Amino acid sequence: MALSLAIDGLHAGYGAVKALRGIAIGVESGETVALLGTNGNGKSTLMKCIMGLVRPDSGSITLTIDGAAHDLTRLTTEQIVDLGVALVPEGRRLFPKLTVKENLMLGAFRKTARGAIDRNLALAFETFPVLKEREHQLAGTMSGGQQQMLAIARALMSSPRLLLIDEPSVGLSPLLVSQTIAKIGELKARVGLTVLMAEQNFNQAIRIADRGYIIVHGEIAVAARSVDDLKANDIVKRLYLGGVA
Ligand SMILES: Nc1ncnc2c1ncn2[C@@H]1O[C@H](COP(=O)(O)OP(=O)(O)OP(=O)(O)O)[C@@H](O)[C@H]1O
Ligand SMILES: [Mg+2]
Repeated sequence: MALSLAIDGLHAGYGAVKALRGIAIGVESGETVALLGTNGNGKSTLMKCIMGLVRPDSGSITLTIDGAAHDLTRLTTEQIVDLGVALVPEGRRLFPKLTVKENLMLGAFRKTARGAIDRNLALAFETFPVLKEREHQLAGTMSGGQQQMLAIARALMSSPRLLLIDEPSVGLSPLLVSQTIAKIGELKARVGLTVLMAEQNFNQAIRIADRGYIIVHGEIAVAARSVDDLKANDIVKRLYLGGVA
């Protein structure tokens, strides 16, 4: 199944705040694309626009599935989820007073996902065995790393083809960051997912990314064709690699 996401000329904001100013990015089937940027540069706003949670002022967001183009700016979030797009939101957004299992089941509430609950639950538990061990524990009592795994697993319950992950590394220890990123890479290989991942942690993101973009003040400052291109870029050196470019 072929899938591609194409965003062009995207402007979005909140009243007087112009968060995105003419964003153009693309993601193709099977790729893992990193969206890199420091605080407040518009990463989450872009993710929310793709999910229909923030409506852009102008520009296009097109998801093409097997030759059929869908204009996401005209669809509801529910319709976008039904097309196979899922978001692992910044800060996890779990239901802390519900159990691990109940949180997972909420990820499968859309009609299109209900038929695949058993298969998706098996995949989630196989990928993250700790969730199986803790399926009756309240989500709010899980550790930060376990909660991030649960947030990713919950997104898998909707049978996504395109997975958007907003800053999976936030608030985790270096070891857990490394494990979480490795898990995302493993999942991508196993399920054939296409991934767009927002990150501030450059070195971790490029472990699993095929290529990436740097977003600065709501604009794409760098669009790199490969991780090597990204590492060689002067803006990247200055922002992330401690260079003097
Ligand atoms: N609900 C909102 N109302 C007003 N301004 C907002 C809102 N959400 C975000 N912004 C502003 O939009 C800009 C982009 O924010 P956004 O959350 O997209 O950045 P980000 O790259 O995800 O940052 P971070 O790495 O801190 O999560 C910022 O200036 C932010 O203050
Ligand atoms: Mg953010």
